[in-house]
Amino acid sequence: MLKDTTAVVTGASSGIGAAVARALAAEGATVALLARRRDKLAELAGAINTRDGGRARMYEADVTHADAVRDTIDAVARDCGGIDILVNNAGGGSWGPAVTAELADWHSTVELNVNGVLNATHAALPHLTRAAATHGRGVADIVTISSVAGRRVPSANSNVYSATKHAVGAFSEALRQELAEQHVRAGLVEPGIVATELTTSGHAYTPEATSVAGYGPLQPDDIAATVVFMVTRPRHVALNELLVRPTEQTN
Ligand SMILES: NC(=O)c1ccc[n+]([C@@H]2O[C@H](COP(=O)([O-])OP(=O)(O)OC[C@H]3O[C@@H](n4cnc5c(N)ncnc54)[C@H](OP(=O)(O)O)[C@@H]3O)[C@@H](O)[C@H]2O)c1
Repeated sequence: MLKDTTAVVTGASSGIGAAVARALAAEGATVALLARRRDKLAELAGAINTRDGGRARMYEADVTHADAVRDTIDAVARDCGGIDILVNNAGGGSWGPAVTAELADWHSTVELNVNGVLNATHAALPHLTRAAATHGRGVADIVTISSVAGRRVPSANSNVYSATKHAVGAFSEALRQELAEQHVRAGLVEPGIVATELTTSGHAYTPEATSVAGYGPLQPDDIAATVVFMVTRPRHVALNELLVRPTEQTN
């Protein structure tokens, strides 16, 4: 359904971003994989281009570096003939009590989860509005991966992480209102706990949900399927916000 489209996926080197890239490529999109870890990007691009029969290009970039992000997004548009879909997925951050937190950790979480989204969106907007006006689909998409923690504060320990996800939720809603008439859809996907590097590889990210015994988390492919569903709706349908929890997650 996404034949002749180009999708930029930030944070495509692992977890949800990698799964989203594969799923969009499987629908026919050319995917621009953006992240910092070159080896991981090369591995995924190789898999999509060879085994999966899709089309992927890799772009090594740090979303917190605004100029580098703009140069990268412009390069994608040149290389691929435009940009139809931006998936703002790169993100992370630590959870923990405020009284023992390092201020630098708070700042880096804001830098990644908020400024990273702003940098990529600002750079992509001219390309997206152009695609909506001139490309065959007649619509373009900005999908931002927020979190359950962007809807409500799931625990005290989620303080700054939750603040950043609420911030991108507000930003996405404002984009939706501004861009609706131009057929640029701004959608928010809010996952519950997903098994990724963020939640399993010893990062400081420790949502309480991980301590609940006996239920399985979502898998990255579950969120990828949600993103694909969102961006493959007909031109007159916009899914603005999708909250996706593991069935047994209560918080
Ligand atoms: N896992 C969950 O339970 C969960 C729940 C709700 C929401 N989320 C959200 O889902 C998104 C993806 O997270 P994930 O769970 O898939 O974790 P992950 O596997 O750790 O993936 C994070 C991705 O972000 C990239 N990234 C981090 N810092 C970056 C930077 N400065 N510049 C460019 N890319 C950067 C990483 O790539 P490099 O290190 O190669 O740059 C990686 O590809 C995040 O926004 C997260 O907040 C996750």
